[in-house]
Amino acid sequence: MASCYFNPIPTSSHLISADLSTKFKIPKLLHRKKRFGALSRSSKITAYYGLKTPPYEHDALEPYMSKKTIDIHWGEHHRNFIEGLNKQLGKDDILYGYTLDELVKVTYNNGNPSAEFNNAAEVWNHDFFWESMQPGGGDMPILGLLQQIEKDFGSFTNFKEKFTEAALTLFGSGWVWLVLKREEKQLAIVKTSNAICPIVWGDIPIINLDLWEHAYYLDYKNDRAEYVNVFLNHLVSWNAATERLTWGEAFVNLGEPKIPVA
Ligand SMILES: [Fe+2]
Repeated sequence: MASCYFNPIPTSSHLISADLSTKFKIPKLLHRKKRFGALSRSSKITAYYGLKTPPYEHDALEPYMSKKTIDIHWGEHHRNFIEGLNKQLGKDDILYGYTLDELVKVTYNNGNPSAEFNNAAEVWNHDFFWESMQPGGGDMPILGLLQQIEKDFGSFTNFKEKFTEAALTLFGSGWVWLVLKREEKQLAIVKTSNAICPIVWGDIPIINLDLWEHAYYLDYKNDRAEYVNVFLNHLVSWNAATERLTWGEAFVNLGEPKIPVA
């Protein structure tokens, strides 16, 4: 039975099975960083991550995102990432036991990614992406999230303009994100190339948008601007974003300290 580590974002794929041929005590994260140094293999263990399904039917986002797009995007591209990852992990049992979050961070390896990073991060990004949308999405965020957006971007309109600008100026394939910055204690928009996921440098993701062409070509051809416009106005799940910000506030104090300091 796989051991579970604390999983900071509730969207990671699950470690679904493991073949333990020897008694195995899972070491702590820091200890396993030696993998990139001299930690040796000691048992035949295989880690498997499951393909999470989107939290809605494949036709539920129509007409803004077609069933055909999700069939192919999730059923082929996302599936390929997870199958590729499991295939790699089957050859590298030292990575057994990580949550997906930890696997992404450790394979990023401080900016010198190992071979497993691209698949691991793309699985994480896609899990998060499906849950960043909902049927009947778009509209306005509410309550604390809206207040935080207005505080950090000036207005919700300004946020949408900056998010769109980031999406349209990303060269090639990648992602645009609304994240909570731990040190700055504020929301920010970041864009990442290819598979990079901002958890590798400590950001707390709130929303992401897939800007690989496979995400929108069938529905919008190469009109990325229209895809971004539809995402913001009809697809984005402010409910999920609110839950994620609430989770993030457990680690980032966005208000004045309420506990007197002696
Ligand atoms: Fe994708």
